[in-house]
Order: sequence, then structure tokens, then C-alpha cells
Amino acid sequence: MSSGLSLPQTLAIMVSGAGSNLRAIVEACEGRRLSLHPTVVISDQPAAPALAYAREAGIAVLPIPIRNYPDREAWERDLADHLAALEPDLVALAGFMRVLSPDCVARFAGRMVNIHPSLLPRHPGLHPHRQALKAGDPVHGATVHLVTAVVDAGPRIAQIRVPVMAGDDETALIERTKSAEHRLYPLVLEWIARGRLALTADAVFQNGVKLVEPILVNDLI
Ligand code: GRF
Repeated sequence: MSSGLSLPQTLAIMVSGAGSNLRAIVEACEGRRLSLHPTVVISDQPAAPALAYAREAGIAVLPIPIRNYPDREAWERDLADHLAALEPDLVALAGFMRVLSPDCVARFAGRMVNIHPSLLPRHPGLHPHRQALKAGDPVHGATVHLVTAVVDAGPRIAQIRVPVMAGDDETALIERTKSAEHRLYPLVLEWIARGRLALTADAVFQNGVKLVEPILVNDLI
């Protein structure tokens, strides 16, 4: 984005796995429910189904496998250099399974968002659905948040809730949560694209007012 006044137009998406959120985002763009242009899909996993889907969808892909580098720092520097050179207005992490260092995150401050499958601040980190089941939570969900130096702790932008049903196992809860994620992520990106939400390095503004609590998207509870 050339100036703080212009609206974001281009989107880079970073993935490691199945790519169901990527698909939801791309389908929203194709269906004109999301007015961003996905310009590149980057992955640390060259064989990720997400990358195969991106190729089929005609989006440029950039596999950057860590094994091609002498160490993690070299890998991350190259990844960040590539990403910066592409100058995306927004970067959406969609199941990108590596933690980015504070230095790397700082290069994309105010334009990198992530989706995490829990109602943050509950259950950050790995296996959030398992954590929710273990805690006996009656309600679970997903959060889109700004990426900052601390993992899963950036300002929360929006959340969607799902019920935890009697007899749910981890797989069932993952699937139910993912369906909700697919509604939430494109919607939030569209709010940013339209300027309804604005991001800074450490805050989110809704129509000019700093967001204190995440927006609760009409959900399935
Ligand atoms: C999603 O649950 C997302 O919230 C988390 O990783 C998972 C990625 O799934 N960060 P997919 O690759 O989008 O299907």
C-alpha cells in the first residue's frame, strides 16, 4: 500500500497444510465477496495440498522449504525478503505452521493477520481443540488477530463461536470449527479491504475507533 490512506488491494497468503482456509479466501475473491487480489501463496511445505490448490486456482506459488537453508534464520530472512519484494498490502497466515521471529513480524507490522482455531486468549498454541475438550468448554471457536511478536497474542479482530457437542472428539470439533473459520476469515479480510477495519502495528480500528473487544461474527451458538 503506497499510503496509509489507500485501501489494501493485494493479498499474500501463507500456508503449510490442507489449505481449506486458503480455498475459502480464494472462493470469496472469485465470488466477489472479497475485494482483494490474491497475488501469491507462500509455503514452507512444497508438497502441501494448499500449494497444489493454489496452482490449480492460477495463483503464483512460492515454496520456500526450510531444508534448503543452512539454518532457520537464513530461511526466514529469505522468506521475508521474498515477501517484502512482492509488496502485498496484506498478508494472511492460513495454517502456516512456523512461528515467525519478532524481527520478521516487524517487517510486516500492521499488515499481517492470522486465524487461530480457538476463542483467544483461551487455548493459544498447539492443539487448541484438544485443550478445549479437556477443559470441558461448552463453546469453542476461532479468532482472527493481528500478528505481533508474541504468538497468538496480537490484538483480536473478530471471533466466531461453535458449540461443543456431547460426544465430540477432536476431529469433530476441528471440522465444526473449520467450517466456521471459512465464514470468518474472508469476512474479516473484506472488512479490512473496504476500510471498515484499519490495522496499525499493534492495534485495530473499527470505523476509526480502537477495537477493545473482538467483533463477534454471527455464529452457530
Ligand atoms: C486452521 O484451523 C487454522 O485456524 C489454523 O491452522 C488450520 C489450517 O487449516 N491456524 P487449513 O490448512 O486452512 O485447512
